Amino acid sequence: MTDSTSERRRMSALLTSNGILKSPWLRGAVETVPREQFLHPGVFLDEGRAWRPVTAHGTASAEWLKVAYSVDTLTTQLDGHLTADQIGEPVAGVPTSSSTDPTTVVGMIEELDLKAGHRVLEIGTGTGYSTALMCHYLGEDNVTTVEVDPEVAARADAALEAVGYSTWTVTGDGLLGHPYRAPYDRVIATCAVRRIPYAWVRQTKPGGIILSTVGSWPWGTGLARVTVGDDGTAEGAIIGRSSFMQARAQAVTPLAGDLSARTASADSHRTSLMSPLILEEWMPAFLAQLAAPGAQFVRAARSDGAPSRYLFDPERESFAEFIADGESWTVRQGGPAALWDGIERSLLAWQDAGAPDIDTIRLRVTTASHLYWIDGSPSLGWEHRLA
Ligand SMILES: C[S@@+](CC[C@H](N)C(=O)[O-])C[C@H]1O[C@@H](n2cnc3c(N)ncnc32)[C@H](O)[C@@H]1O
Repeated sequence: MTDSTSERRRMSALLTSNGILKSPWLRGAVETVPREQFLHPGVFLDEGRAWRPVTAHGTASAEWLKVAYSVDTLTTQLDGHLTADQIGEPVAGVPTSSSTDPTTVVGMIEELDLKAGHRVLEIGTGTGYSTALMCHYLGEDNVTTVEVDPEVAARADAALEAVGYSTWTVTGDGLLGHPYRAPYDRVIATCAVRRIPYAWVRQTKPGGIILSTVGSWPWGTGLARVTVGDDGTAEGAIIGRSSFMQARAQAVTPLAGDLSARTASADSHRTSLMSPLILEEWMPAFLAQLAAPGAQFVRAARSDGAPSRYLFDPERESFAEFIADGESWTVRQGGPAALWDGIERSLLAWQDAGAPDIDTIRLRVTTASHLYWIDGSPSLGWEHRLA
């Protein structure tokens, strides 16, 4: 086996010079843990319209190491089952497991502010690479990692064993946490959730930190960092943009059927006060999900080529359709929830407040609700009550 010491050092130096890698212990972990060991049997490289399978066994050692240390997200599973050794040609598919870009992984671990002796719960084991980085410092007994896909979990467990960590790799739905090894000092999720499950709060010690990407759109999602209080609530902030594959049970299923049939009967139509294209920007997209949780944004074109955009909320059986009309847009809304009215109100208020960025958003998680607000603008708040 080719030794990857120099690639690990190069990656560590790169992450350090980028200002991502700061802690000496984490530098030691990055320089020690061989990422290539976690990529078996192989990865899929993004070729735009298709994914090219690259396997460890079918690739020259130097080339394989180049792939493994490319400081990029490396997809390891498509469509919930396909691995790179099962196919010889580029293939279409949706990534369902990966080794996340080390920049993101290391940046998130830095945000956890880990101290020796901390007990960590990780949701979304994936390849096990991020698990190994934490085991290097905390020890295998202090890291519990939950992966929903049994085959992915088994591969990660084998890789962790191979590099010397007999940690707790649990197969299960991480949205429930893992109560048997609670309480934890830290919870880190490397998949996105619509909202932070209260189980994570309950399983975290007072003063402990939960770090997770929240939101359900492919963009417009934020990294939430909350601290658990003595009273069983958790409070914190969205500390920046973040993008992860959605927790499986919460993954958005593409809308089936003819969109024009779904929007045939509208309750109202009017000129929109702003372009729906604003929802293609990160912060407005995040706010839209706060104002209308459950809504999905769809880009489309009409038969005459004119652009159109839609919002659908399948649970509330509501829609908004936007039709370009020269410089302006007409919005047709249907169903019990006037989706665009609420989103538009939030976006106008946000613009009036000077259009602050995503890291001004604070949140509080209780057993009964999730409350989001913009720091310094208490009137800009959204409460999501749990059923
Ligand atoms: C981006 S990958 C994780 C990357 C990983 N931390 C690494 O360094 O390789 C996300 C993983 O989350 C898993 N996942 C999705 N939903 C989950 C859930 N509800 N509970 C636990 N794991 C889940 C996926 O199967 C996938 O393997």
